[in-house]
Amino acid sequence: MSKPKVFSTHPLFEAPRKLLDEHFAVDYWDHPERPPRNELLKRVADKDALICLLTEKINDELLTAAPKLRIVANVAVGFDNVDVAACTQRKVVVSNTPGVLDETTADFAWLLLMAVARRVLEGDQLVRSGKWTGWNLDQLCGADVWGKTLGLLGLGRIGRAVARRSRGFGMRVIYHDTVRLPAEVEKELHAEFMERDAVLAQADFVSLHVPLFPETRHLMSAPQFAKMKPTAFLINASRGPVVDEAALVAALDARRIAGAALDVFENEPKVHPGLVGRSNVILAPHMASASIETRTRMAAMAAENVIALFAGRRPPNAVNPEALEAK
Ligand code: GLV
Repeated sequence: MSKPKVFSTHPLFEAPRKLLDEHFAVDYWDHPERPPRNELLKRVADKDALICLLTEKINDELLTAAPKLRIVANVAVGFDNVDVAACTQRKVVVSNTPGVLDETTADFAWLLLMAVARRVLEGDQLVRSGKWTGWNLDQLCGADVWGKTLGLLGLGRIGRAVARRSRGFGMRVIYHDTVRLPAEVEKELHAEFMERDAVLAQADFVSLHVPLFPETRHLMSAPQFAKMKPTAFLINASRGPVVDEAALVAALDARRIAGAALDVFENEPKVHPGLVGRSNVILAPHMASASIETRTRMAAMAAENVIALFAGRRPPNAVNPEALEAK
């Protein structure tokens, strides 16, 4: 029997690639840039499975172009690039990569927080410029991190990993989420639940850890920035459209907040021009989960979901298991 056909929009890493090649006839997109849309539509035409990145829009157009498709394995935990309802309707399983990137992403959220508070990129630039004249009492004074209040919007797996790290800095942790966590989890994390406006008003650092849904689009806009302390910083390692970038720029212009550190943007790879060139803003190219170990695990997890489906098992990370029900 011939092997099922897979299109992978990325060459992946050696170990997951080996795993896939054992089971499938895999067509890899082997170029450094992302595949153009017309190429993607062409390459999926005869495929049984698709392994893709969050840069690919999986919608009706793509599903129509890929009539044999049985699974879309997104190499990311977020799957806002996938029209899950359209996939379910066509009995196409969608899988993601939850769990394996929580700690790595939390590390990076902390890196952003500390970098913007303590102005380390400005320091790096000063040293490299050759203009540093030596120690000075008021040079590059930032904001303390230790002992401050960390406000988390979203306390899922990644938010909790961020909260755990705050213990070493002696911080108070306050949070809001649509569902309040069980008391024992709050206790373990030393996290206090509050209404969102109270988190915004009390936090010295507001860090976003919600998925992108219609309800979380522009969760942070002008009214929310207006509630923050003028000394507070915004950290975003979730999804770009959670922040209204124009409103963020206006808040920074008006010194409504002290600064921002962003790993994600509303219209990636475009960045609002009002953010570039500000020394109190840190811009990172959507790299929070980018460690070799984690990205390899994410790719392996996508491969395992495809393998499971074609072995007649339930893909362990199916986000729409109802797609598995018989037609
Ligand atoms: C990255 O942003 C992911 O969703 O995994």
